[in-house]
Amino acid sequence: MIITGGAGFIGSHVVRLFVNKYPDDRIVNLDKLTYAGNLENLTDIDRKSNYVFEKADITDAGRIRDVFEKYCPDGVIHLAAESHVDRSISNPMEFIMTNVVGTVNLLNAARALWNGNFEGKRFYHVSTDEVYGSLGREGFFAETSPYDPRSPYSASKASSDHLVRAYHHTYGLPVTLSNCSNNYGPNHFPEKLIPLSINNIKNSKPIPIYGKGENVRDWLYVLDHARAIDTVFHNGRNGETYNIGGNNEWTNIDLIRLLCRIMDSKLGRPEGTSAQLITFVKDRAGHDMRYAIDSSKLQRELGWKPSLQFEEGLEKTADWYLANEKWLQGVISGDYEKYYQKQYSSR
Ligand code: NAD
Ligand code: DAU
Repeated sequence: MIITGGAGFIGSHVVRLFVNKYPDDRIVNLDKLTYAGNLENLTDIDRKSNYVFEKADITDAGRIRDVFEKYCPDGVIHLAAESHVDRSISNPMEFIMTNVVGTVNLLNAARALWNGNFEGKRFYHVSTDEVYGSLGREGFFAETSPYDPRSPYSASKASSDHLVRAYHHTYGLPVTLSNCSNNYGPNHFPEKLIPLSINNIKNSKPIPIYGKGENVRDWLYVLDHARAIDTVFHNGRNGETYNIGGNNEWTNIDLIRLLCRIMDSKLGRPEGTSAQLITFVKDRAGHDMRYAIDSSKLQRELGWKPSLQFEEGLEKTADWYLANEKWLQGVISGDYEKYYQKQYSSR
C-alpha cells in the first residue's frame, strides 16, 4: 500500500503503526519532504524489510502514475497536504496545488491502475474537521453537517473531500474518508500551537496567543488518530465518512495555562514562571471560533475510542520534546527562524 505524507506529523505515526502491525504488507511512504516532512521521524522503522520510501511530489501527475505502476498498491492512505492555516493565509496557491490538484492526481493514478477491478482496493482520504466551518457555544460537527470552510486551508481540504466523493459516485472508486479534530503529540512541527509553545517555554520566549485565547479546539493524541485510521482503513464501509475527535474541548488560553504548569514542573521552575510568557497578539484573519467533533458513528460502528486523557497526553508530549532536543534543533534550524519572524514580528 501507499501512504502519502508519511514523513509528516500524523503520517509518520500511521506509517510506524502499519509497518509494525502488518509485516506482510509492503508500506510505501510517498512524500515530497517539504519543510514539514522529516525522515528523522521514522529512523526506528526505516530499515524494516516491508518499508520503502519514495520521494515524490503529488502535484506531478506523471511521477505519481509511475510510482503507482511500480508498486501496484491495493490500498492508498492519503495524508500528504499543506496543513498549516496561517501559511494558507499568506500563500493560498500552494494549498490549492498540493491539497486539490495533488489529490486529483492520486485519484487518477488509482483509477487508472485499478481499471474497474475494485475488489480488495481502497482509497482512504484523511481530512479535517475544519471543512465544517466554525461552531458557536453549542453543538458538534456530525458527518451530515454542511460544509462551510472559511480559510484557504479548509477550503482546499473541502474541495479535495468533494473530489474523492465525486470519484466514488462517478467512477465507482472504492473510498473512505475521515475528518479529524486537532492532533497533538510527538513529532509535531513547532509552527502549531502546542509544539510552538513548548519550544518557546523551553527558551523563555513569549508564547503568542491569538486574540483573547477564547477559541476552542477539540484535541486528540496523534496515536489515537493513527489507530482510528487503521480501523477505518480495514473495517470502514465503502463510500463512508467517519468523524474522529477527542471529545476534549479546550480554550487556547486554558490549554496553554495547563501546559505552562506542566512545563514548570518538568523544567524545575517555580510554578507560575512559564505563564508569565503568555502574550496576547493580533488575531488570525478569519479565525474559526470553535471546533467540536461528534465521533459517535466511528465509536458505534467500528468500536474505536480515544485512549488517553488530555493531561496524560500533554505530559507525554512535553516529555518527548524535552528528550528529543536533537530532533527539535533539526527542525528549527534553517528556514524556521525566517518563518517565525515573518509570522510573528508584526503581530
Ligand atoms: P504535516 O504538515 O505535518 O505533514 C504533511 C506531509 O505531507 C509532510 O511530510 C510533507 O512533506 C508532505 N507533503 C506536502 N506536500 C506534498 C506534496 N506536494 N507531495 C508529497 N508530499 C507532500 O501534516 P499533518 O499535520 O501530519 O497532517 C496530515 C494530514 O492530516 C493532512 O491531510 C491534514 O489535512 C490532516 N489533518 C491534520 C490534523 C492535525 O491536527 N494536524 C487534523 C486533522 C486532519
Ligand atoms: O482541526 C484540525 C486542524 O487542526 C488541522 O486540519 C490542521 O492541519 C491543524 O494545523 C490544526 O489547525 P488549527 O489552526 O486549529 O491549529 P494551530 O495549532 O495552528 O492553532 C490552534 C489554535 O491556537 C487556533 O485557535 C489558533 C491558535 N494559535 C495558533 C498559533 C500557531 C495561537 O493562539 N497562537 C499561535 O501561535
